[in-house]
Amino acid sequence: MRLELHAISKSFGPVKAVQNISFDLMEGEVHAICGENGAGKSTLMNILSGNLSPDSGEIRMEGSMVNFKNQMDANVHGIAIVYQHLSLFDNQNVAENIFVNRFPETRSGFINYTLLYQETAILLQKLGVDHLFQPQTKVSELSAGQKQMVEIAKALSQNPSVLILDEPTASISGNDAQTLFRIIVGLKAGGTSIIYISHRLDEIFEIADRVTVLKDGKWVGVFKMEVLTRESLIAMMIGREIKKMARNSNVGKEVVLEVRGLSNQKIRDISFKIYQGEILALAGLVGAGRTEIAKTIFGAMRKQAGEIRVKNRVVDINSPADAVKYKIAFVPEERKALGLFAGMSIAENINSVNFNDEQPFFTNSTEVVKRAETYKEKLRIVSHSVRQPVAALSGGNQQKVVLAKWLSTNPDLLIIDEPTHGIDIGAKFEIYEMIQKLAVEGMSILLISSELQEVLAISDRILVVKDGMIQKELKTADTSEEEILKWAM
Ligand SMILES: Nc1ncnc2c1ncn2[C@@H]1O[C@H](COP(=O)(O)OP(=O)(O)OP(=O)(O)O)[C@@H](O)[C@H]1O
Ligand SMILES: [Mg+2]
Repeated sequence: MRLELHAISKSFGPVKAVQNISFDLMEGEVHAICGENGAGKSTLMNILSGNLSPDSGEIRMEGSMVNFKNQMDANVHGIAIVYQHLSLFDNQNVAENIFVNRFPETRSGFINYTLLYQETAILLQKLGVDHLFQPQTKVSELSAGQKQMVEIAKALSQNPSVLILDEPTASISGNDAQTLFRIIVGLKAGGTSIIYISHRLDEIFEIADRVTVLKDGKWVGVFKMEVLTRESLIAMMIGREIKKMARNSNVGKEVVLEVRGLSNQKIRDISFKIYQGEILALAGLVGAGRTEIAKTIFGAMRKQAGEIRVKNRVVDINSPADAVKYKIAFVPEERKALGLFAGMSIAENINSVNFNDEQPFFTNSTEVVKRAETYKEKLRIVSHSVRQPVAALSGGNQQKVVLAKWLSTNPDLLIIDEPTHGIDIGAKFEIYEMIQKLAVEGMSILLISSELQEVLAISDRILVVKDGMIQKELKTADTSEEEILKWAM
């Protein structure tokens, strides 16, 4: 056996993050780990990669006991990890990021750039991504998916026998995900063992051999993929039935926002209206220009031509602060970058945006705590109290806090980019329901999503975006995944 974990436990104060978990990994196996947000997946992987030491339990590699002092030590033993959140230096190039801290040197002790670029080129070629970017490309110029490839190249540059991928596809598109799967298949064939964490069950059925299911820090079971169905896996992960969603819609007559001929370097001649209570989806492939449309409306990107009208009046939006004045809110895709206040409580974070300045910024007042508790319950935010700092939450639970924060602001128009990335399947439906409820109550929603099922489930109307332009307008009730894809490609 390549790797065995035996009865591993880890607590953070009163939180039993991982309880008595055993796990084994064979040579050349892709082993998935599934569980809701906060189930203990990342904690277990941090133990395995030397970043956390367990309170109890044993780790064996190829039969012999190991005890990692830190991540370097785990690397030396052949374990490499790619984290849930990207950790690259944006202003350095690909090669510098891959070999950070381990630069090849010339005889006189300088960085040997010739060798650095050569080795990086070989690595990129091996991964089959050499046509996408160069060793000299600045990381800031890469897409989220390409950055993920660099993270993987960095992990592989250490020739690991075990590669841990913690939600590698949370922020990448279908195309990049396929590239990633091709890489995984290649590694597997070469005997590398892979631990794969994802909330996208389709992916797990596509590439995993076995899956270990965790719930509330406890071991539920390990299964060969062949014996599972999507439904049986979900049932084990969440231990309850998922509610069927009732479709609700209440589109009004008032135009809340209209854009005419909006253009800049990334988008061309964008014109559309969004009505009160309407959920309008921007569908399309990642990189199609959807986020740029949203950013331009929100004043986070300059427009070169065109106009924005709010409730039939031409307005001047040159910054996000201007947009907020017109009661427009924007939940960006890179929610981590958006900055939760890590040391502040969940309640304080949820209440930290306010359009009417009535309330002090940070407070744990009874009212604020009560409001936060409603969201904690609805979105199933895993924490023992809303007074806990957000820093102690799992990745997905932090995302839920960001969503709660914006959902509670009560804007006229809520722009929301990939609302369910990184969110477990149980909470997804809760989020859909919340979005629909807000719309029925009169809020207009501009939804950006790469998940067509999501678009079809909750939107009223769909604009398909490609190459920075609107290709087609579709009525959700009369369209299908195939039709959307046809216009998106
Ligand atoms: N540094 C920490 N301090 C306190 N509690 C923590 C810390 N790290 C994790 N936890 C808690 O441990 C539990 C497990 O978290 P973990 O990050 O392992 O979940 P996860 O399964 O990776 O979830 P997600 O799918 O959201 O990434 C959660 O209740 C979390 O709040
Ligand atoms: Mg995690």
